[in-house]
Amino acid sequence: MEKLIGLKKVKTAVFISGTGSNLRNLIKFAKIKMSPISVDLIISNTCKAKGLRFADEFKIKKKIFDLRNNEKNILSLLKKEKIKLICLAGFMKILSNDFIKKFDGKIINIHPSLLPKYKGLNTHSRAINNKDKFTGCSVHYVTARLDSGKVILKSIIKILAKDTATTLAKKVLIQEHKLYPAAIMKIFN
Ligand code: GAR
Repeated sequence: MEKLIGLKKVKTAVFISGTGSNLRNLIKFAKIKMSPISVDLIISNTCKAKGLRFADEFKIKKKIFDLRNNEKNILSLLKKEKIKLICLAGFMKILSNDFIKKFDGKIINIHPSLLPKYKGLNTHSRAINNKDKFTGCSVHYVTARLDSGKVILKSIIKILAKDTATTLAKKVLIQEHKLYPAAIMKIFN
């Protein structure tokens, strides 16, 4: 990622599908003076995403990515809004290769596992079923292959005997909220 020039923050879109706790965290992070990004657009593939309420709360433009608003329209919107970075934050739709190519090297994602382990879904139950001793989360560049782009940063936590997929998800989410801003700082330094 190119260096930040002057004091201008990099216009960023956050893509979500659900609760949006990472989105909220990124919005808060973006408001800090030293943050290299501003969150200017929120995109969801479903109007049911609870995280969309943060668009209203923080007065950020939002768009639902449905059949009417296909990728082509989303790309024009991103261009119009001068978006230079896309952060996927619990976005559960797979973007086309064409879309990814148009934003090559400028889409990052947070994933709840220690990549390359457990790409895809149900990462916490898979870690528990395999009797792993550690799990965590990773921020990585998005490429055409699911959860396979270069890892920017990872955070590791211990799995305890009493952990369930639910307790692990909660603990990992706390780490995610530290990791995503740290990864963004890293790519602009
Ligand atoms: C997070 O744990 C994120 O890592 C995960 O979904 C959750 C979204 O939480 N993402 C994926 O599984 C993507 N493959 P949030 O909506 O509260 O940010």
